[in-house]
Amino acid sequence: MRIVSAPSEVRASVAAARSSGRSIGFVPTMGALHAGHASLIDEARNHGHFVVVSIFVNPMQFNDPRDLAAYPITTQADDSLCVTAGVDLLWRPTVDDIYPSGFDTVVEPGAMASILEGKHRPGHFRGVATVVLKLFNVVAPDFAYFGLKDFQQLAVIRHMARDLELPVDIIGCPTIREDDGLAMSSRNTKLSADTRRSAAALSNALTGVVTALRNGDDVAEARAFGLALLSKQPGIDVEYLEIVDRDTLSQLTSNDSSSAVVLVAANIGGVRLIDNLEVDPARVGHRKGPA
Ligand code: PAF
Repeated sequence: MRIVSAPSEVRASVAAARSSGRSIGFVPTMGALHAGHASLIDEARNHGHFVVVSIFVNPMQFNDPRDLAAYPITTQADDSLCVTAGVDLLWRPTVDDIYPSGFDTVVEPGAMASILEGKHRPGHFRGVATVVLKLFNVVAPDFAYFGLKDFQQLAVIRHMARDLELPVDIIGCPTIREDDGLAMSSRNTKLSADTRRSAAALSNALTGVVTALRNGDDVAEARAFGLALLSKQPGIDVEYLEIVDRDTLSQLTSNDSSSAVVLVAANIGGVRLIDNLEVDPARVGHRKGPA
């Protein structure tokens, strides 16, 4: 595995892989890699691509400087995971590589980016879309892999790729969970033993809401049920729990919940976690539509 920093080195490696007939699979990350990231890398490798992983903690997508400062950095463990997972090229750009002096252009995603996460983290998706477009422009991947754990992020990136005619297929991959259901996240390492136990309540609540919807509860009842489940768990400060259409992320207008996804964000002992569950998971990972 090669490790490079400058965009020119990435371009040269990718060009060499292409000239030997390889397609390019790209997994953009912010490091603190875990089994969820490994599953994205596996997906790319299993399709025979030359696999590029980027690790860049993108300051532009953090609306809270304390959140950025607290973001876990696990450089050596990340290198080992990438080697074991069979990554071909690891790109670790510096802040200057991505935002050189005078950098003054952003990608402003539309309405979908101002709700849910976008409402609670103003500017977050501007930062995500800007960096992802820049990373895509350097790597020029054929396929890019993102986890469905960040459901809204995936929807915003798909929307950007479609609106701007980006020549890349965006692939959504299933969320990988711990044994108790907690979605894998780089932020989980910040949980204490106590808050780690409480955190499983998020996926339990999502399962409860999805089961209620499948059993015919209406959307308002199912949402209230989920909020009630979470309120029983001490130390969980819910930011939102919403049931929305999986393609548009807008509130469901009927009680047909077959296209619904339930999204939750909560603060648990100072660690902000998000998770989601779809009512019809059979469709997970196989769509190419806007979300
Ligand atoms: O999901 C992430 O790790 C980041 O938001 C991403 C897509 C790498 C952009 O910084």
